[in-house]
Amino acid sequence: MAVRAVILAAGAGTRMKSNLPKVLHTVAGRPMISWVLSAMRAMEPDQIVVVVGPNGQQVRPFLGDDVDVVVQEKRLGTGHATGIALSAIPEVDGDAILVAPGDVPLLVPSTMSELISLHRRTGSAVSVLTAEVEDPFGYGRIMRDGWDKVVGIVEHVDAGASQRRINEINGGVYVFSSELLAEALPKVEPNNVLGEYYLTDVIEILGASGHPLHALKTVPSEIAGVNSLSQLARAEAFMRSRLNEALMADGVSMPDPDRVYLEAGVEVEAGATLLPDVHLRGDTKVAAGARVGPNVTAEDSSIGPCSHVWYSVLRGADVGEGVEVGPYASLRPGTVLRKGSKAGTFVEMKKSTVGEGSKVPHLSYIGDTQIGQNANIGAGTITCNYDGIEKHETVIGDRAFIGSDTMLVAPVTIGDDAVTGAGSTITKDVSPGALAVERSVQKEIPDYAAKRRRKEP
Ligand code: UD1
Ligand code: CA
Repeated sequence: MAVRAVILAAGAGTRMKSNLPKVLHTVAGRPMISWVLSAMRAMEPDQIVVVVGPNGQQVRPFLGDDVDVVVQEKRLGTGHATGIALSAIPEVDGDAILVAPGDVPLLVPSTMSELISLHRRTGSAVSVLTAEVEDPFGYGRIMRDGWDKVVGIVEHVDAGASQRRINEINGGVYVFSSELLAEALPKVEPNNVLGEYYLTDVIEILGASGHPLHALKTVPSEIAGVNSLSQLARAEAFMRSRLNEALMADGVSMPDPDRVYLEAGVEVEAGATLLPDVHLRGDTKVAAGARVGPNVTAEDSSIGPCSHVWYSVLRGADVGEGVEVGPYASLRPGTVLRKGSKAGTFVEMKKSTVGEGSKVPHLSYIGDTQIGQNANIGAGTITCNYDGIEKHETVIGDRAFIGSDTMLVAPVTIGDDAVTGAGSTITKDVSPGALAVERSVQKEIPDYAAKRRRKEP
């Protein structure tokens, strides 16, 4: 029995109060639809159909080549959307049609497999995923008869007071027998408060004609639907705890996991420690023994083994082994810090390589620069890489000693073992081993203070 998957994603998402199609709002850095898609793909379906709305061209790039996209021009309800999906599915009897909304990012593949197994085992017409929740507001409620058998689903807006007290909710995830779904859908009528064709009515229609219906209860978080920004924030919190729990199980330390914010796809090795208020995004990797945080944002960056990064922002930076970054460093794209190097307090770097063992400890801007090994860059050193029109390179040799407050006016090369005097503005290359000082001679006026006092009225 083949499985065909349908994702309903044509809704307007009006309750989000946003122009972005609802399913493109992100949870842990990935659009909601991508989470639903990966859960669906884990079922290895023969086909995946996604129903998009008139603004579907915005959603398409996030869907992938394995997806058949159909457009629901008018949002006439989940039943209508499912009917449009069926038009893309060949008529094959005995298939299971797995339907999920595009706004349930926390779906868990193992639960979906269980739902499919239940469906097959029981020969059910429809199997629906449900949960008992404290606050069922807004969800469809599962109606059961005196024998506890599912008989239908009533939508919140259509429910009477006693039905609203039912706290078993419809997760919006179903497995249908394809031919029974095709048979029942045309019987759905928009006789409800919203005037929509509800997919949920199929359950009652099939039950009433004697077909077996089953429900699988799962934990509420897995089927939390996102209709508002508040629910999006809650989904984000659930996903965060899920990702962080998985990392801790793999050996990553997090003394306060509620304050560690990782996007899906970030890799952290066992033996690393993530302290509070760490945000890791995009293609970021953290190696074993690294200590990151508190207060670090790293995007598309790698942090090498046993490095220590705190109170800093990294974007497209490559931090090697045993490196120290921060507090208050800003590493911009193209920054490479080799083994044992340092970018210290109030240091900004961009498109620069700092060689093994070299240190930039305090108050510096280093841009378009190559620094050799074991060089020391004094406090307040600035590479003047921009002449207002073009950017130029600075090269600093091995073991060079750049005095505090040196301005290196690029293009300029400082040779190996060369030294610059504190406060120098270096505009010409410095030979290896030489000292370059650019400074006016210091004058001294004796008794100056006394003279000044005499001038005072
Ligand atoms: C729906 C269910 C409700 C369930 C809840 C679970 C119906 C009638 N109600 O309510 O029982 O508890 O999901 O989260 O099915 N969509 C379309 N085309 C449409 C309308 C909706 O593709 O014309 C899509 C939406 O993009 C969304 C999904 O279907 O992804 C569900 O629609 P939504 O409006 O969010 O339904 P709920 O009110 O949440
Ligand atoms: Ca919804």
